[in-house]
Amino acid sequence: MQSVLEINLSKITENARLIKEACSRRNVEVLAVTKGFVANPRIVEAIIRGGIEGLADSRLENITALRSAGFHQPITLLRIPCLSDARQVVNTVEYSLNSEPVVIRALSDAAIEAGRVHNIILMIDVGDRREGVLPDDAITIIRDILTLKGVHIAGIGTNMGCFGGILPTLDNLNLLLAIKENIEKSCGIPLDIISGGGTTSLRLICDGTMPAGINQLRIGEGILLGGDATGSWSIDGLSKDAFTLRSEIVELKEKSSLPVGEVFLDAFGNRPEFEDRGMRKRAIISIGRQDVNIDGIRPVDERIHILGASSDHMILDVTDSDSDLKVGDVIPFRLNYQGLLFLNNSSYVYKEYI
Ligand SMILES: Cc1ncc(COP(=O)(O)O)c(C=O)c1O
Repeated sequence: MQSVLEINLSKITENARLIKEACSRRNVEVLAVTKGFVANPRIVEAIIRGGIEGLADSRLENITALRSAGFHQPITLLRIPCLSDARQVVNTVEYSLNSEPVVIRALSDAAIEAGRVHNIILMIDVGDRREGVLPDDAITIIRDILTLKGVHIAGIGTNMGCFGGILPTLDNLNLLLAIKENIEKSCGIPLDIISGGGTTSLRLICDGTMPAGINQLRIGEGILLGGDATGSWSIDGLSKDAFTLRSEIVELKEKSSLPVGEVFLDAFGNRPEFEDRGMRKRAIISIGRQDVNIDGIRPVDERIHILGASSDHMILDVTDSDSDLKVGDVIPFRLNYQGLLFLNNSSYVYKEYI
């Protein structure tokens, strides 16, 4: 049997509703980030049922598929665009996050050619060191953009917690707000959207410290998994188990925990190391690193441990499990965001909706 990713659509709807409500109370709009599930239309519909209108994705392919499936919601392109994609960007999305003047000029030219005006969110790097102009350069760049006729500066934004692992805090979000004020004063334009990050920014919503003026968040993980890696916030009623992976046992045997023979490299070129734990009951399940990385999933039964995986086989130590496991039984797993991304992208994993 194919491994199955079970998707509970009503839990996703409820997560979207609760997050939207919590953010609305702080005057923050939520964009639902759809890249974590390849913009699967059934899941997008579930999120929209929860009351979220605006969508965001990093991949033009996903967005194009959403448009073809009839989704007319405003969409924001999250990954700063390729220069070579300018035409497609202005013809597919209403908003894009940007940091390169040369790309913004190309977007303006493409928008003029298409008879449109494209909305730009200028990204500011407040510390995470992924995309964004540096705070001191923002005003010069905005002045440059203001000379372009095909783009409208809809706002500024920032991203954190992705590359540098930097947490959103009062300091870095207040810096974003100070830059907004400087731009508005020096350039004489209003900035409508101040986009203050992704799921990790929800902690400031939950503890009531989100600075007034941050009025948009781009949320993926929080809606899908009801939390994030920080584990530092929660909203009553959010489900962390909207997704469950189920994979079948194809071999179950008592084996020594140590391989026998001369150790070389594993299937991925790593030199494996093993602890001698004597004879252990080991299960092989029918999923592998072609479908998911082992750090992306965690057995629901906490007494089961993942030992490793090659491309098609994952090896589990099930010695301590209380279940009387047999070949053919199915092992359930919870996912983190990495696991979710991989499994939704694997065409070998069947998607089942409940
Ligand atoms: C620019 C940007 N904003 C928001 C997000 C959403 O992040 P999260 O899933 O942590 O909410 C991402 C994630 O890919 C992103 O790249």
